[in-house]
Amino acid sequence: MTITLAVTEVSKASFITILIKNQADLSHEMLQPYQKILSQKLEDKDNGITIFYEADRIIAVVALKVNTHIETGIVHEEARVRGGNICKRINYEKSAHAVVVRGSDSVSKGELLAFTEGIALANYQFLKYKSDKKQNALTNVALMDAEISPAEIDELNNIITANQIARDLGNEPVVSLNAVDLGDFIVKMSHEIGFKADILNKSQIEALRMGGLLGVNAGSSVPPTFSILEYKPDNAKNVKPLIFVGKGVTYDTGGYSIKTGPGMPGMKMDMSGAAAVVGTFYAIVKNKLPVYCIGLIPATDNRINSNALVPDDIITMHSGATVEVLNTDAEGRLILGDALSYAKKFQPELVIDLATLTGAAAAITGALGGALMGTDTKYRPTLMACGNETYERLWEIPYWREYADMLKSDIADLKNIGGAVGGSATAGKFLEHFTDYPWLHLDIAGPAILKDDEPYKLKGASGVGVRLLYAFTKKFAELN
Ligand code: BES
Ligand code: ZN
Ligand code: ZN
Repeated sequence: MTITLAVTEVSKASFITILIKNQADLSHEMLQPYQKILSQKLEDKDNGITIFYEADRIIAVVALKVNTHIETGIVHEEARVRGGNICKRINYEKSAHAVVVRGSDSVSKGELLAFTEGIALANYQFLKYKSDKKQNALTNVALMDAEISPAEIDELNNIITANQIARDLGNEPVVSLNAVDLGDFIVKMSHEIGFKADILNKSQIEALRMGGLLGVNAGSSVPPTFSILEYKPDNAKNVKPLIFVGKGVTYDTGGYSIKTGPGMPGMKMDMSGAAAVVGTFYAIVKNKLPVYCIGLIPATDNRINSNALVPDDIITMHSGATVEVLNTDAEGRLILGDALSYAKKFQPELVIDLATLTGAAAAITGALGGALMGTDTKYRPTLMACGNETYERLWEIPYWREYADMLKSDIADLKNIGGAVGGSATAGKFLEHFTDYPWLHLDIAGPAILKDDEPYKLKGASGVGVRLLYAFTKKFAELN
């Protein structure tokens, strides 16, 4: 689905959405022509939608929720949700082209854009494996608004596509998206949009002595990959790179500490961190943000054969640290530890990693946001503010230094699991061991994998992180 600036007259579209602030705006002069057909209207009060049916077109008046919140993040999120609701209605009415206009001056430009974003995000479908594709009718939303520029429309389209790329990658099963496939995808995308991609193969990973990535991969028939993405525009504001690291476990069976019953389905999405990095790169490169960025993606599946790691094994990481593996299901930290120590060579300004790392984080946040930890203090408030604005929210969880003590091993430098408490924080402390630069860790186990449909967030892979990190990178450019 694409968003365009309307070139046609409103009167020529088959589905017109008029955005108003509240029901009182219905008396606005713009809506006068429709008052005479009030008898034909259909009201969906819960979703603030009033629909007028005419002979050859449908007019939907959408009232944004009037709330007492002053935070723009919440105001914009309510507009996004309304967009998701109207998307359903547009498809129900089988309209291919919808027009969105502001019917009231009290609707802000931000609300209008968020509403449109909600429509586009809600229109996502993953139909690749369906014989009967039942494609949504909606293909184009045209915005008619004098305040909105073509550049803003382009930017929004690129963000939506970036989110969809991440969702597609997450929804793809491992049978068609293993670590090598993921590397191939990144190379293809790099050629299409223009950034540098270097995909390290198994022998290169061996040469780098990435014992974490190789250890997790030992039980797999598919070799690991380590993808290095680089975007360095001439006008970059930063000298030291901004680095994104994404967990790329293409399937997590748990290994010999195997997941049981309902714990395993969904683990094709254990590469959602990697997907977020790929999607974020798409949005940054397409929108030409003046930021020097690097993406690092260690990728493998976590499976079992007779070579697979077993609990009690000791591995040597890329950093040289030894790790006693007491649970092979705590594999994300092993591959990320290698990526984080590899990142040191770039002397980064900031490293942000994203990972579906722990069920413990998901138990804290649910799908409502990600758990935030790390050592950076300079960029943290900005990242959190971007989380509130994009509604890919973050919350800091207890991350006291004593959690690191829980990783002490009797016979190696550290072990890969902590104790009975603080499962997300001990995972974070494990990662911190491999950093020596400002670093933030986002455990997205909760919001990455959605179990139920919401107005604009649909069941399956959410693509969480893309909208957040794009917004952050834009702010990062301003701060550098
Ligand atoms: N990929 C899982 C975490 C996960 C769980 C993501 C549920 C999304 C939904 C991770 O590799 C894992 O299995 N973590 C273990 C760690 C434990 C063994 C210390 C967990 O959370 O149980
Ligand atoms: Zn696991
Ligand atoms: Zn995992």
